[in-house]
Amino acid sequence: MAFFNSSNEPSAIIAKEDFLLPDYTPTEALHRTNEMETIGSAITPLMHGKSGTNLFLTGPTGTGKTMCMKLIADQIRENSSKVIPIYINCWEFSTKMAVYFKISEALKLVLPRRGLASDEVFEAILGEMKREKIAVLLILDELDSLVFKKEDEFLYNLSRAGIDRGARFGIIGISNRRELQRFLDGRVASSLRFSTFEFKEYDMAQLGEILLERAKFALVPKTYDKAVLGACAKVGAENSGNARLALEILLKAANRAERRDSKKIELEDVEAITKVIETRPNKKAKRPLSFHEADLKLSEEENLLLQILTGGEKSSSEVYDEFIAKKDITKRQIRNYLMLLEAKGLIDTREVQIGENSFLKTKIYTLKIPGGWINGIHNQRGCEGVSEEK
Ligand SMILES: Nc1ncnc2c1ncn2[C@@H]1O[C@H](COP(=O)(O)OP(=O)(O)O)[C@@H](O)[C@H]1O
Ligand SMILES: [Mg+2]
Repeated sequence: MAFFNSSNEPSAIIAKEDFLLPDYTPTEALHRTNEMETIGSAITPLMHGKSGTNLFLTGPTGTGKTMCMKLIADQIRENSSKVIPIYINCWEFSTKMAVYFKISEALKLVLPRRGLASDEVFEAILGEMKREKIAVLLILDELDSLVFKKEDEFLYNLSRAGIDRGARFGIIGISNRRELQRFLDGRVASSLRFSTFEFKEYDMAQLGEILLERAKFALVPKTYDKAVLGACAKVGAENSGNARLALEILLKAANRAERRDSKKIELEDVEAITKVIETRPNKKAKRPLSFHEADLKLSEEENLLLQILTGGEKSSSEVYDEFIAKKDITKRQIRNYLMLLEAKGLIDTREVQIGENSFLKTKIYTLKIPGGWINGIHNQRGCEGVSEEK
């Protein structure tokens, strides 16, 4: 990322880049006391051997949902040996078996080397929880992936385990899409009985404070000022109160200032970076991609679909025909992969009427990445979030 520096001089502006990276979890969450308290009181009963309230956390991207749950998981680890918090990003672990393995790993279960069936893994998990008298708080971030892959059914077993099997799970689902709950398996929805809790957008002043807290650790003193932080905060505020975006802009602006050999970040750096964002093709996406989200770990089927759509927009039957000619799976499976790509923000869908007076409708799919898709790598910059200008 940084330019090759032949003199090996320490960087003039960025002291510790880590503090501005999206995956960094601060030690304290600013402006999220209410949210932390609400979540805390929903799960406190688990610590006392009772059932907690399962929560569905939603709200725009970059409003601190992931951060709050990571902080809460840390606090539980410090304060209770009776509740084991397990954080899972469902884009990475998107099947029942993957989730079971993550739980086994957290419980330090030693599983036999021969392949186990998922039921056997689940039984081993329940056995361990009962033996040790522990509850599990399962945090399912980016829950979309499990749901769109129709892999959410096992959550029914988990939510029933407290009553049927004496091993308690608390479940927190996180998604930017409020409507996701409608797509949950019916039995899952009625057994989880999620309480929905919405994270509100940060305003510009709040974003400014969040940036300042991070800048103090990340940047060399006197290389930034209030106006620069304010300009980054403004873009975040205009994009649904997105703290991730604001941080991303600050880091890119700092990089740009360093490349110019400037001693400090100027407003022109922020403006130049902001311009790139404004022209980025997925600006209108409901869920703007950020650099770490663009690494979406696509399956072979998803890549094939993106290749098919590279030629231009296609109706669902055209997509099915082309897909099945290359790989024979059911239409229902293809539809699920299309839903998954839509959830990942890579394709758009609209419905059109067939014929003038017909009540029949078909779906049209379009690629959101201009320039197309070649062997799993999009051949134009832009999808990776804020591309730096050359
Ligand atoms: N209140 C806050 N205080 C400090 N940093 C924050 C705060 N809210 C969000 N961030 C930072 O902004 C970025 C995006 O937050 P994140 O929790 O990933 O948002 P979400 O999960 O809602 O999309 C992360 O780097 C996070 O550390
Ligand atoms: Mg998140």
